[in-house]
Amino acid sequence: MPWAKLRSHAQFNLATSGVAHWKLRDLPIKIEDLEISGLSKYGFEPLQRALAKHCGVTEDRIVAATGTSMANYLTLATLLKPGDEVLIEEPTYELLLAVAKHIGATISRFPRTHESGFALDPQAIKRAVTPRTKLIVIANLHNPSSALADEATIRAIGEIGPRVLVDEVYLDAAFERAPRSAALLGDQFVVTSSLTKVYGLSGLRCGWIIAEPELARAMWRLNDLLGVIPAHMAELASVIAFGELPRILANVRERLDKNRAALHRFFDSRADLEAPRFPFGTTAFPKLLRGSVASLCERLRNKYNTTVVPGEFFEMPDHFRIGIGGDLEPLEEGLRRLGAALDDMMES
Ligand SMILES: Cc1ncc(COP(=O)(O)O)c(C=O)c1O
Repeated sequence: MPWAKLRSHAQFNLATSGVAHWKLRDLPIKIEDLEISGLSKYGFEPLQRALAKHCGVTEDRIVAATGTSMANYLTLATLLKPGDEVLIEEPTYELLLAVAKHIGATISRFPRTHESGFALDPQAIKRAVTPRTKLIVIANLHNPSSALADEATIRAIGEIGPRVLVDEVYLDAAFERAPRSAALLGDQFVVTSSLTKVYGLSGLRCGWIIAEPELARAMWRLNDLLGVIPAHMAELASVIAFGELPRILANVRERLDKNRAALHRFFDSRADLEAPRFPFGTTAFPKLLRGSVASLCERLRNKYNTTVVPGEFFEMPDHFRIGIGGDLEPLEEGLRRLGAALDDMMES
């Protein structure tokens, strides 16, 4: 996270995983729509309604949270005590691992392999589960690769035994290919998400958890120690944003389709990269077949003013992550510069 906050910026930033931020002026929000304080206790009623409608569940299953980040923290901290065993996919979004460590959980891992296109394999999970495993943690779509797990796979993981946290913050970037939310498949699933990544509305910090009602109540109580009460202006703006999601999603789809085509053209031109390609998602996670990713990233930043995320942050140092959520022109220029940095490495 310190790298993402302090070191990822560059003129051509391909290090972000979400789509470009929308501006306030892009949404029909007027100053009269906002108010500093309001009636938010265990959720702000209009936002709880909007979230429940969006997720297709009843309001007693929704816990509003400050982004998926807080949603993940509340989930792990409610379900795990120090010493409890949690089984987390590898590679994973680093903060899922960091939260489990912070709680003092005992962490075990199961692989999502490059060779399988980072697919989720219920058999691999089954092999890694022990009688002490309290929670399985996965993301769908997967960060960093954008691999998608279908409903049958998610169901099979739910049948293994322990509860399953599914981080679905990227799921809507699969558009009509997205399976139903795991939250609709049974109470063994806890789902987290937000308006951050796919909708480009990170600043609203509108996140949520979907969980069975008793668990949801426990999470609200834990939130009383942390977020307590959200910024009311953000709640009001989020309610308005929910009315705009279809328009936003159509725009995002057009952006990602064009950008992905540019990325795939770039992959076509490189024999030194190998990447599973998907027709959805906001990121790709290629493997560098020759040379060091650390030197590539250094050269890319220092000589070409361009960043990607080094695979070391995903425990795979021979990979790197490219984000395609920005504007097309800078993406194409960033990819051109990435190609030049790769060519330099071949020559040196
Ligand atoms: C899998 C995953 N979950 C959660 C987050 C954080 O999301 P938010 O901005 O909603 O807190 C990220 C951010 O990169 C992520 O990749």
